[in-house]
Amino acid sequence: MKRIVVTGGLGFIGSHTVVELQNEGFEVIIIDDLSNSSIEVLDRITSITGIAPAFEKIDLKNQGAIQNFFKKHQKIDGIIHFAASKAVGESVEKPLKYYHNNISSLIYLLEEMAVNGIEHFIFSSSCTVYGKADKMPINESAPFKTATSPYGNTKQIGEEILADTAKVTDLRAISLRYFNPIGAHESAKIGELPIGVPQNLIPFITQTAVGVRDQLSVFGNDYDTPDGTAIRDYIHVVDLAKAHISAMKRLLKHSNKTSFEVFNIGTGKGYSVLEVIKAFEEVNNEKLNYKIVGRREGDVTTYYADTSYANDELDWQAELSLKDGLASAWKWQQSLFNK
Ligand code: UD1
Repeated sequence: MKRIVVTGGLGFIGSHTVVELQNEGFEVIIIDDLSNSSIEVLDRITSITGIAPAFEKIDLKNQGAIQNFFKKHQKIDGIIHFAASKAVGESVEKPLKYYHNNISSLIYLLEEMAVNGIEHFIFSSSCTVYGKADKMPINESAPFKTATSPYGNTKQIGEEILADTAKVTDLRAISLRYFNPIGAHESAKIGELPIGVPQNLIPFITQTAVGVRDQLSVFGNDYDTPDGTAIRDYIHVVDLAKAHISAMKRLLKHSNKTSFEVFNIGTGKGYSVLEVIKAFEEVNNEKLNYKIVGRREGDVTTYYADTSYANDELDWQAELSLKDGLASAWKWQQSLFNK
């Protein structure tokens, strides 16, 4: 049985990935500092899979704690690294928090991996590394444009650290550039837990439908798109989680072509904000209270992935639809509200 460490394993994407790893027969050890997650998620994972993952509460900015972790847990086959701060707006307010959390922890982890002879690493990246991309769909050879936030910059720097390190050490790393993750596990036992007012579209929609928010604001209907609202590539979190399993298997089989590889993880399809609202209303039989307001600063018109490289090389593709994502997100929201 291969033993995989998942940092940030109690978070939104991390918890879904732990479930898929366990379903595929991997042994999982979770590291999480609980700064943006709840310990309750551990029991929920266990109730889905019937297997309790090992858990260590560790802040990855503490290199000594990482050293102790690897003394205690040996024969690790690979690491999937989700633990990071991810709020774009907050990163503008608190850049050093983001550079410290997202970069220091990556460096410490890579240093301790080398000491302990661990070679396989999956990095949680984002389509934000492309900045304002020149053409759609975006493929992996599109250049990095100036990052639009310190958060985005930490993903660019993180990839550069991995590329440089993989050139001169035994590290084999894959960076997965996520488009817009949505949805929840079909059991509605795990899902996204936004703190405070959600910034992302889908949690704002579900909170509006359930009555926590009065109204959804649609940011701009004067974009150059068929209905005037902005277009994104929404990928179901379970499909996204499965991409990590494919990537880890690729590394474990040594099928990677270079020591550092990057893949877009999206559906390849773009939907406008109004299309998302309509799909939500249809699949869940709910009416959404929304109004059109001005554009949100920093938003781009259209963003969707060319996923052909991931489809071919990872033997993976998104299987769940936008409506699957919106139905599961709604089921999850209702389970939270009914607690
Ligand atoms: C944002 C992040 C991105 C991150 C992604 C994760 C920014 C600038 N980018 O992308 O780095 O990887 O989330 O999911 O924050 N919208 C509304 N009303 C709302 C909320 C959103 O109309 O209340 C619109 C937005 O204008 C956008 C679309 O919905 O057109 C999606 O927005 P959002 O979910 O915030 O994702 P992104 O901005 O694409």
